[in-house]
Amino acid sequence: MNIRQNLALKFCLIVASLFLLFAFSLYFFSSSYRQSGFNVRLKNRGTTVVNLLTDVKQIDNTLLKSINADTKNALFNETISVYDQNNALVYSDSKDSTNRQANIETCNFTYSVKDKPFKVIVSAFDKFGLDNLRNLKIILVVGSLIAILVSYIAGWFFSGLALNPISKIISDANEITVSKLNVRLNEGNRKDEIAQLSITFNKVLDRLEKGFEMQRAFVSNASHELRTPLTSITGHIEVTLKKERNTTDYVELLKSLLSDIRSLSKISNNLLDLALATTDVGALKLKNIRIDELLFSSKEKLLRNFPEYKATISFISFPEEEAGLTVFGNEPLMESAFFNVMENACKYSENRGVEVVFSGNKEGIELRFKDSGIGIPATELTKIIDPFYRATNARSIPGSGLGLSLTQKIIELHKGILQIHSVEKKGTEIVIVLPLIPSVI
Ligand SMILES: Nc1ncnc2c1ncn2[C@@H]1O[C@H](COP(=O)(O)OP(=O)(O)O)[C@@H](O)[C@H]1O
Ligand SMILES: [Mg+2]
Repeated sequence: MNIRQNLALKFCLIVASLFLLFAFSLYFFSSSYRQSGFNVRLKNRGTTVVNLLTDVKQIDNTLLKSINADTKNALFNETISVYDQNNALVYSDSKDSTNRQANIETCNFTYSVKDKPFKVIVSAFDKFGLDNLRNLKIILVVGSLIAILVSYIAGWFFSGLALNPISKIISDANEITVSKLNVRLNEGNRKDEIAQLSITFNKVLDRLEKGFEMQRAFVSNASHELRTPLTSITGHIEVTLKKERNTTDYVELLKSLLSDIRSLSKISNNLLDLALATTDVGALKLKNIRIDELLFSSKEKLLRNFPEYKATISFISFPEEEAGLTVFGNEPLMESAFFNVMENACKYSENRGVEVVFSGNKEGIELRFKDSGIGIPATELTKIIDPFYRATNARSIPGSGLGLSLTQKIIELHKGILQIHSVEKKGTEIVIVLPLIPSVI
């Protein structure tokens, strides 16, 4: 059942139950008023007869019968019997019993005139009352049926009217595809719930479109970055193959190939890590990481890759408990983050050195990576965490622009904060704050 049918049915059910309740009570009260009213009339007939019998001396049964038969107050199929205190029948007025009705009502009472008690039995058929009641029943049944039908039709019509904009949204939304992500839903009056739904949906589309745009740019940047070393490899090999070379030339070629291949493998590693850091946290292997140990192993890895680099690690406020040094997260990613900021610090400073300062308190760990290198131009500070973005003053130094954006993603994933403080030509300080026990990761 769709929403429209559901709404129409519910509306109809409410109207029908109200109407039936009303109809039943109307019928019930009418019926009981009729019954008590008819009872009063029966009693009146009885008392009139007794009064005539006792008040008018000359009257006899035959005369009374003919008066009764003639009176306008006589009831349909009326029978009146009066007994005196000795239970002797004083008066009986029984109409022909062949045509007796089923719904005869009887009123039985004692009526005293001048201290003489009479037992009176009056019975009759309430033709008009019952006819009226039957008519009322027909009106109520037919009326209820019509009301239910009309309420269902009205419910169907109004729910259709209310749901119309939703059907419009559905057909508009069906138009949206990956290649047509710029299509937006009509936001109507921008006030009612359905307009709010469209506005929210459009906001989601804005974000999706931006996301797709970024992804597209990312893919094209990534292919460009991968192509550069590949072109250089091809070029070098082609030039060398042009003629016979001596051993020194071949050694030179291999050296340049090695450096290009290293940069290729670094880019692809970064891309893989980036993909990993952007996926669902649930897919990552998480464990307790000793940050101090990881800093030392990252330093070792850095020096292994770049023997000319220098890194010092110092501790202020070293936590006494092991918990103060431990973070819950993914070790390879965290190591990659530390490696990247250390590498940047050395790469972009003349002295090729980085100074790492560790400080910890109850809430978390703060790591500062300081260098006195070329710094980052103030206007570019916000851009350098974008993938592939490289500051204008750094473009002569080889790099891909992936490291910092990867690091930012990794720190975000661990519910940490990454801040960049830098003064051009003076130096840079990258601050990483990590929570000790992340609430949810
Ligand atoms: N310590 C630093 N000193 C100066 N510039 C830096 C430093 N760290 C990062 N940058 C700037 O941020 C840019 C992005 O860094 P990153 O993502 O690691 O890419 P890459 O090092 O491959 O260029 C760098 O190109 C550089 O301009
Ligand atoms: Mg880098």
